[in-house]
Order: sequence, then structure tokens, then C-alpha cells
Amino acid sequence: MENTCLYHPLSIGSLHLTGNLFLAPAAGYTDSAFRSICVEQGANLTFTELVSAEALTRGCVDCSTALLCRAANESAWAVQLFGASAQSMAQAVAALAPYKPDMVDINAGCPVPKVTKCGAGAALMRDPEKLGLIVEAAVQASRKTLGAVPVSIKLRSGWDASSINFLECARAAVQAGAALVSLHPRTRTQGYSGKSCWRHIKELAAELPVPVAGSGDLFSAEDAELMLRETGCAAVMFARGSFGNPFIFAAAKSLLTGGRAEPPDALIRINTAIRQLELLARDIGEKSACLEMRKVFCAYTKGIHGAAALRTRLVHAETIDEYRSLLARYENN
Ligand SMILES: Cc1cc2nc3c(=O)[nH]c(=O)nc-3n(C[C@H](O)[C@H](O)[C@H](O)COP(=O)(O)O)c2cc1C
Repeated sequence: MENTCLYHPLSIGSLHLTGNLFLAPAAGYTDSAFRSICVEQGANLTFTELVSAEALTRGCVDCSTALLCRAANESAWAVQLFGASAQSMAQAVAALAPYKPDMVDINAGCPVPKVTKCGAGAALMRDPEKLGLIVEAAVQASRKTLGAVPVSIKLRSGWDASSINFLECARAAVQAGAALVSLHPRTRTQGYSGKSCWRHIKELAAELPVPVAGSGDLFSAEDAELMLRETGCAAVMFARGSFGNPFIFAAAKSLLTGGRAEPPDALIRINTAIRQLELLARDIGEKSACLEMRKVFCAYTKGIHGAAALRTRLVHAETIDEYRSLLARYENN
């Protein structure tokens, strides 16, 4: 009974969502094909992989159009931007007008040196004042050019263990107009190692007047339930736990609303993987899609009898037909 209220509609500024289960932004994984499958499974809000504000502003279409491809069933679609200046952020938000995003998210958590060296991603947290100015510029640009869709920000706990400043950064962002704050409570130095510190999510949720989305170590429906219950966050964001396992959304919704979803059998897992491959092939071509999908097919085939031998062969598959014929033998396992 108590779980029922953990799954609920959520408003982020003017954006009204039917539920609070999000697909986190994840470079190299959350392309439109995968996002579309996650929406089918119950994701209520999806984020693109991070997109460079600079590249978008320069009209560098090659590196931004595939990233900005929206699936037909994505009714709540956020574009995530990374950038290091208020000016480039404002220009990038304006450049998003043709894509009609439902929300613009600012990345203040990416730990990758290529991004932080330019002052973007997690480096924004080293200067909360500048972070606030960047959010303010995005909010103003959204008002002028995107019909005032909400602007959100995704933070880490801080740059390193000696500079935990997520509260200060979140306050600056909200003051500047951010309508949602997502927190992955690890420092930039931690990368993805160790355990995420959910206590930080709890502190943030208690402090902010806007919704907080919690991220970090959500590998099952039960993890999502625990995070919602323990931290009081308004929404949860699945990342690694969803790769090759979009079924985690259906499982979480079911658990939170008092039911229990049947785990998908081998046939469902395999057919879903093939469908993701087909969708991806439409966007980036068959050859690239087959290469890209290798990393997630392993997760899709987890638990299937004979999966280890299957994976060894799958990593050499170069066409959709090859994938299909290799997988056909395992459908009934
Ligand atoms: C491969 C990978 C790529 C990621 N890319 C992004 C990204 O582009 N933008 C972002 O804000 N976070 C990114 N993240 C962080 C996730 O959104 C999430 O906050 C983090 O993985 C913690 O959640 P998890 O422990 O459930 O995976 C990425 C994480 C992974 C593992």
C-alpha cells in the first residue's frame, strides 16, 4: 500500500509527467533507439546523451544531429547540453528551437577530462557562481526561443572529497531558475567507483523547493524503491541498470504500484534486443548499429542458457541477419 505513493505524477515547471521513473543521460548508450524501448517499458522522461553546446552553436551537424534524434514515442524528451560559458549555453539553447525539446538539462557532472578541461561538466561545480550564470542564461534563452521549457541541471556531490558542494551548486542553480536538480552523489574524482552516497540525495531533497531526481547504483526495481523511500527524492534515474535491461522500468513501476512484473523470458529479451538493433540501424546504418549493439547484447542475454558461448559469436556479427540467426537458436532456452 505504502509503495503506491512512491510512483506518482510529477511536474517540472511547466512539464507534466505521468510518473517519476527517468532514463538517465548516458553517452554511448541512451541513443534514440534505446530511449524509445525504455519509453515502451515505462520510462516517464528521457534524456539525450550529452551534446556539446559549442558544437551545436557552430552548426556542427555531424556531431549533433544523431544525438538530437527524437523517437516518435518520446513525449517527454530532455536534451542535455554541456558547456563552459553562459554565452555558448544561451546560443546552444536557442539552436535547439527546431528540435522542440520538452526540457533542457545542463551537465555539471561529467568527469571525462576532455569535457572538464574546457571548464564544462563536473568542472562547473568548481565555480558555483558561474554555474548559476550558465543556468540563468539557459533559462532566459529558453523563455525567448523555446517557449519557456524548463531548464534542469545534473550535479555530482562535488569535484573531490575535499570540495563537497552539491548544496551550494544546487541553490545557485535553483536561484537562477532551474526547475529540477538531478544528483549522482559521487565526486568527479570517484568517477563511477565506490558506492554513491544517497545521504546527499536526502539532504538535497529536504532542502530544495524544486523536485530532486536521484541517480546512483539503481540496478533493480528494489533499488529504486529503496532510494525513493530512503531519500525522499521526487524521481529516480536509471543508468547502468537499464543498459540491455530496459525491463527495469516495467519492473519498477509494477513494484512501486503494489504488483510484481514477471521477469522477461529469453524470447522477449532477444526480440527486444533485435528491435533496438533495427531502430538503431535506421538512425546510424546497419554496420555501425551492429558494432554499437555488441556491448548491450551481453546484458540482454544475461541469464539465458548458453549465453557465454552465444556472446563469443555475437561479437563477430556484422549484419542484423547474422544477429537474428545466432539468436534464433536461443529463443526457447
Ligand atoms: C557509460 C556512461 C555514460 C554516461 N554519460 C552521461 C552523460 O552523458 N551525462 C550525464 O549527465 N551523466 C552520464 N552518466 C552518468 C549517469 O547518468 C548516472 O548518473 C550514473 O551512471 C550513476 O547511475 P548508475 O550508478 O545507476 O549507473 C553516464 C554514466 C555511464 C556509466
